[in-house]
Amino acid sequence: METICSAFRYAAITLRARCRRVGGETRLTTTPIERHDGGMSRHWALYDLRIRTPWLELRVPNERLIDDIIDVALVGIHDPATMPFEFAWTDEPRDELPLNTLQFYWGQLAAFAVDDWHLGMAVLVDGQVVGVQGIGAKHFPLRREVSTGSWLGLRHHGQGIGTEMRSAVLHFAFETLGAEYAISGAWADNAPSLAVSRKLGYRENGVTRKVRRGQVDEQIELRLSRSAWEEHRRDDIEIDGFARCRSSFGLD
Ligand SMILES: CC(C)(COP(=O)(O)OP(=O)(O)OC[C@H]1O[C@@H](n2cnc3c(N)ncnc32)[C@H](O)[C@@H]1OP(=O)(O)O)[C@@H](O)C(=O)NCCC(=O)NCCS
Repeated sequence: METICSAFRYAAITLRARCRRVGGETRLTTTPIERHDGGMSRHWALYDLRIRTPWLELRVPNERLIDDIIDVALVGIHDPATMPFEFAWTDEPRDELPLNTLQFYWGQLAAFAVDDWHLGMAVLVDGQVVGVQGIGAKHFPLRREVSTGSWLGLRHHGQGIGTEMRSAVLHFAFETLGAEYAISGAWADNAPSLAVSRKLGYRENGVTRKVRRGQVDEQIELRLSRSAWEEHRRDDIEIDGFARCRSSFGLD
């Protein structure tokens, strides 16, 4: 199973294909266009889903929140000398990032299906987007396993937000969806990501050799069982708006 970090490649692939089709003349702008009201469809219950801790909230991003995610990403997610993601999407030209990101989230929402779904949820602190907490699963009703991936704007690192948003999404996975396992993965040199996983009870689940920036490197696989999650279970995380979403996840 891929982590959400690697899923970012789909948007970039789509964009490159489209650029080739139009003869390479496509130029993208990072200038914001003030034309929509951030509205969302009334016909898709996932937009009403809220995962709340005393500190932050996770939401499926509407158009306005995707724009805010883009703004945070443009300011910077990591030191360019390092690459925390499996697909190096933050290495793409800066002026391609907005459309790549839009297509990534549109693609996720368009492709959502009971047996294969990924949600990159906007993370809001005091109503402001600070990053993304992703969660996804394949054949969840049978496998009961989710994978997660995440990022924060650089200026929000190292304050405990990464741990808080992972705790939030794990609560949703185990408590609300009834997951049995959650998996994650990080490059061996991504100390903060590995620290968050270990703090929350994940155990190492092997090492995979993968390609990063054209070089073979090692990714540490991690796995959290329901019983290990129970040891870190919190009683201050609330899930709102799930009742109408149950069938989207294949739950009765
Ligand atoms: C990974 C990420 C989401 C973590 O969020 P965060 O808010 O910085 O994480 P937290 O502050 O909750 O926790 C970080 C932990 O890492 C530890 N840490 C940080 N740097 C470390 C280092 N060099 N060595 C060891 N531990 C380190 C911190 O001490 C902290 O643990 P503690 O609370 O026990 O002290 C964030 O760093 C990020 O967005 N990084 C760039 C993108 C990324 O790597 N995404 C994950 C891809 S798999």
